[in-house]
Amino acid sequence: MVDLKKEILRIGEEALRELQQLDKSEALQELKVKVLGKKGTLTALLRQMGSLSPEERPIMGQVVNEMRSRLEKAWDERSGELEAVALEKRLAAERIDISLPGSHVTRGHYHPLTQVVEEIEDIFLGMGFQIAEGPEIESDYYNFEALNLPKDHPAREMQDSFYITEEILLRTQTSPVQIRTMEKLRPHLPVKVIAPGTVYRNDDDATHSPMFHQVEGLMVDRGIRMSDLKGILLNFSRQMFGESREIRLRPSFFPFTEPSAEVDVSCMLCGGAGCRLCKGTGWIEILGSGMVHPKVLEMGGYNPKDVTGFAFGMGVERIAMLKFGIEDMRLLFDNDLRFLQQF
Ligand code: DAH
Repeated sequence: MVDLKKEILRIGEEALRELQQLDKSEALQELKVKVLGKKGTLTALLRQMGSLSPEERPIMGQVVNEMRSRLEKAWDERSGELEAVALEKRLAAERIDISLPGSHVTRGHYHPLTQVVEEIEDIFLGMGFQIAEGPEIESDYYNFEALNLPKDHPAREMQDSFYITEEILLRTQTSPVQIRTMEKLRPHLPVKVIAPGTVYRNDDDATHSPMFHQVEGLMVDRGIRMSDLKGILLNFSRQMFGESREIRLRPSFFPFTEPSAEVDVSCMLCGGAGCRLCKGTGWIEILGSGMVHPKVLEMGGYNPKDVTGFAFGMGVERIAMLKFGIEDMRLLFDNDLRFLQQF
């Protein structure tokens, strides 16, 4: 019995010492199993109690129980300590320095061209126009023929085209949407649409890009006159470039309008006195226009004896360059943030 007691104390004391050295809760748990588990060293000693006399048993039982509760108390204390240390560590690692400056989130905005297209749309929507669309890959028929530009017409040379096949090309203008819209709406009146869109030409320099944007306008009804065109465009120019703008129409030629006119707006930089932007003339060209050619009305399914119409087409890049004072069109497509952030 003396030996047994000694052994219990030896194992217990050793476990208590070892416990103080451990600094991981897993190791602590392992030690507990090693000593007090089913196959633990102390448990093994308990099994030997059967060999003791009935008087010795309760005495030994008390020794074991005391040792067991000392061990358990020590375990609880040690694991409490370890937990506190771990918590301390985690808090230190997760500490947030609220005095650090925040990271800056840059807010994007629409591309200047998108801004300009939306502004143009808003102005014409305000005058009762609707928005029409057509495909960028277009047939020769809609892009040229139906617009009174037969196959060998010299005016086709004004627009150097990207052909895909003999009959299919990237549209060089938004004018084909005139025909598509009339085909869709006929015989409804009035036809009153604008058609914003991307167009393509084999051109590339400071004022021309192979891909650019236009907004087409078309109004067809009974009794439409050139003065209607002029009124609409004056209203547009003043909303777009300022209340004090004037416009003038100069005779021109387009195959799909007759008569045709180029429209100038009084210079937004000098107000008409003459400057570098307007090259001293006081006027700046902003679009092409005219009265819809009878053949074009016919191609669209309307009778030119009953109805008349006006049409116009403007380049969005040109409008944007004038509005924002941009000198090189290529800047609009370089996607340099230093440029784009200015709008
Ligand atoms: N489509 C012409 C161009 O790209 C612009 C134009 C001129 C459109 C006169 C029109 C118009 O509707 O009437 O050069």
